[in-house]
Amino acid sequence: MKATEQLKKEHNAVKVTLRILDRISKKLEAGERVDPLHLEELIDFFSAFVDKCHHVKEEEMLFVAMKDSFDPSDGDRIGALIKDHVSGRNFIRDLSYAVAEYRAGDARAAGAIVRFAKNYTTLLLQHIDIEDNVLYPLANKRLSEKKQEELYRDFERLEEEEIGHGKHAAYHEMIDRLKTLYL
Ligand SMILES: [Fe+2]
Ligand SMILES: [Fe+2]
Repeated sequence: MKATEQLKKEHNAVKVTLRILDRISKKLEAGERVDPLHLEELIDFFSAFVDKCHHVKEEEMLFVAMKDSFDPSDGDRIGALIKDHVSGRNFIRDLSYAVAEYRAGDARAAGAIVRFAKNYTTLLLQHIDIEDNVLYPLANKRLSEKKQEELYRDFERLEEEEIGHGKHAAYHEMIDRLKTLYL
């Protein structure tokens, strides 16, 4: 499989979790009580999978491979995408603080959860759109099949180290369960 196809597949899973987060936010906005565990499960996915796995595959593997064959303007594009990863990490940190307060019984934290969830979702959807429609097509043009396969194998190795088979399966189970509950 091509490395960029794998990343696109991961984007699709991320988009599902963002839709779930949006439904949870809508409930909070309507003044409904939600189970904080569901938010904590999503935050774990955004932090351990999206930030420490997906974004690392891009920053340390794909982007590095692309820099070798790109002109200076592509470098700026990559720099902007890396900045988004940093902003996303900060939003998730803010969101997790708000969820901890919500779990502790602070009802006012609901507003903060909605705000940070919106910030994160807006940022990530825009970011995914640029990668899917601009950056990955460029990678497909400029990287050889051999390089794409090599990157794919590096991705597999990183995922095994960072996530492992058991947790990967647990994420699928979590997404399916929350999908049934919220979508
Ligand atoms: Fe990215
Ligand atoms: Fe991505």
